Amino acid sequence: MLEGKVAIVTGAGRGIGKEIAKLMAKYGAKVVVNDPGRALDGAGDDKGPADEVVAEIKKAGGQAVTNYGSVTSFEDCTGMVKQAIDTFGGLHILVNNAGILRDRMLHKMSPEDWKAVIDVHLNGHFNTIRACINHFREQQYGRIINFSSGSGMIGQVGQTNYGAAKLGTTALVRILAKESEGKNITVNAVCPSAATRMTESVPMPKDPVLAEARRKRMASTDPSRIAPLVVYLASEDAKDITGQVLGIRAGELYCYNLAAPGRMLHHEGGWTPEMIRDVGIKALIPFLTPVRMSRDVMPNPFV
Ligand SMILES: NC(=O)c1ccc[n+]([C@@H]2O[C@H](COP(=O)([O-])OP(=O)(O)OC[C@H]3O[C@@H](n4cnc5c(N)ncnc54)[C@H](O)[C@@H]3O)[C@@H](O)[C@H]2O)c1
Repeated sequence: MLEGKVAIVTGAGRGIGKEIAKLMAKYGAKVVVNDPGRALDGAGDDKGPADEVVAEIKKAGGQAVTNYGSVTSFEDCTGMVKQAIDTFGGLHILVNNAGILRDRMLHKMSPEDWKAVIDVHLNGHFNTIRACINHFREQQYGRIINFSSGSGMIGQVGQTNYGAAKLGTTALVRILAKESEGKNITVNAVCPSAATRMTESVPMPKDPVLAEARRKRMASTDPSRIAPLVVYLASEDAKDITGQVLGIRAGELYCYNLAAPGRMLHHEGGWTPEMIRDVGIKALIPFLTPVRMSRDVMPNPFV
């Protein structure tokens, strides 16, 4: 599916990104394996993870090169694009997978924890996309796959920074897909669920039934389950799939609905606060989505 194509996969040294890089190489792509080897909170530098993935790909007969840049640096991102073109003669696919977590309830969150997470997830998406979008526009071909999360789509306690950034990546998808119409560039987002160090850091539910369900679910959510969707979205075959948010978790593949007004009331001359209280809200209540307080943000087939 990816024969002759060149891909950048950010955060490809571990977890989901590693599996994406390996499967892309297996399907014929030449891969820039980007990863500065950060800790879960974004600290540190380690060349080991990217080196190991490139060695694995080469051992299996594929083509790959390491890149240790950070998606938080625009210069590093333009460097990734240059490296892809200089090394492999082109660039066709960008996978924005890099990520960190700094979970805190908002009332305890420091400005640094807020900024660090927004910087990797949201600014990181801008930096990589901005670095390659004109190349894609000029060659009239490109596949961009962003990484979002159920945390942003539905809401997860302790993750206002992460969820806000992740929902931002889907807005980017919707708008950039429109801006890229007619250019043979597709832009989509994936909401994955997989057992990685990221999910292991989320505390187990106190309820033993929910905790057991989480354990069972995690046992069947190997990160390799995410890569096939990314490979497909990156292929020429997926030319008509754009502006979408798709989810994948263990055996489940799903799409998120486009956000749109659910029900509309009209009152000529506008609304007063009293009319909203006495008429408007009452009429809309069955259509308002309740805020679910559970830590499990998706319907759970294991309970
Ligand atoms: N695991 C899940 O269930 C899950 C759920 C929803 C969304 N996601 C998203 O999927 C993506 C992959 O997550 P994962 O679970 O594999 O995490 P992971 O922690 O296993 O891997 C993330 C990788 O990103 C790299 N990274 C961190 N900061 C970087 C930076 N500044 N520049 C480049 N690379 C950087 C890290 O070094 C690491 O190797 C993330 O965007 C994450 O938010 C994961």
